[in-house]
Amino acid sequence: MKKRVFSGIQPSGHIHIGNYIGAVRNWLVNLEDRDNIFCVVDQHAITVPYDPEALHSGTREAVALYIACGLDPQKCRLFVQSHIPEHTELAWLLTCITPMGWLERMTQFKDRVGARRERVGTGLFVYPTLMAADILLYQAHEVPVGDDQKQHVELTRDIAERFNRQFGEVFTVPEPVIPQVGARIMGLDDPTAKMSKSTEGQYHSVGLLDDPDKVRKTIMRAVTDSQQGIVFDPQRPGLFNLLTIYQALTGQENAEIETHFAGKGYGDLKKELVEVVIAEIEPIQARYRELTADPAYIDEVLAESVEKLRPIVDATMDGVRRAMGHR
Ligand code: TYM
Repeated sequence: MKKRVFSGIQPSGHIHIGNYIGAVRNWLVNLEDRDNIFCVVDQHAITVPYDPEALHSGTREAVALYIACGLDPQKCRLFVQSHIPEHTELAWLLTCITPMGWLERMTQFKDRVGARRERVGTGLFVYPTLMAADILLYQAHEVPVGDDQKQHVELTRDIAERFNRQFGEVFTVPEPVIPQVGARIMGLDDPTAKMSKSTEGQYHSVGLLDDPDKVRKTIMRAVTDSQQGIVFDPQRPGLFNLLTIYQALTGQENAEIETHFAGKGYGDLKKELVEVVIAEIEPIQARYRELTADPAYIDEVLAESVEKLRPIVDATMDGVRRAMGHR
């Protein structure tokens, strides 16, 4: 039996190179030797104010981008969260066994809410139980994510273990899989803040669908410091971030990169990085244009996945409902 992998992205904005390096690229590595399920989690994206039309088009864009990045629908299941209503059913059941204290410890919630606590939707608070439901519904063994989602996957483990202790062994306890390089890509306009889909600012991120001119401007303007020398130094976050993106996309070792840039300046690094990034995203964009020329194709992929996932969903939910006394 192949190990099962589950992961997802929120269609809460355009997918950027942080999502690509921290997540999607690592999903491609095990396409052959794992049983892979990748989701566009549209029900997560409604936990903050949003525009329904933008959500719909963003969801389709994300599915097409998954395929354009190399997630071949013959080798994995690609689907949209809201097409399988059991995600929210299971989320409610898990919410009832998740202590509030566990959710209150989630750093992402604390960071995002700040002083707005009285006003944000309750969904934003219970969001990690929906994420746990996504993963546990498919009995996934591995969850490849960026650094910011590690705590949520660990919470998912705690919820699964608690459920299994209380109601009997129903869930597989999943492991987070975090990449060694690029697990946390920072904003190009502010290397002290994580690159995020929802951060405004023209030169904050590079989107996978950005044109070469936008890529060039964003990288050339990236915030660095006034020091000299191109070395991997975490104390120089702007430089470190550019080098990390370079390293993730070229696959070279630190020493090799430092030798390559010895005696050169930030401008040289930025120019080369522009070329590396464009070379990576251009073929993705070409495939994206081909795929989206036939909207019916995406619909077929999504419908077929739901059909193939149905037996897994039914088996898990049958076990959960029986264990919890809903017979
Ligand atoms: P989301 O949509 O914020 O991000 C999608 C994936 O990209 C990673 N990521 C990053 N990696 C490196 N640098 C960055 N700056 C960066 N920003 C984002 C994220 O870690 C993630 O892997 N809650 C999740 C979506 C989700 C999910 C799931 C993931 C819902 N259910 C079940 C895995 C399994 C989220 O908001 O990711």
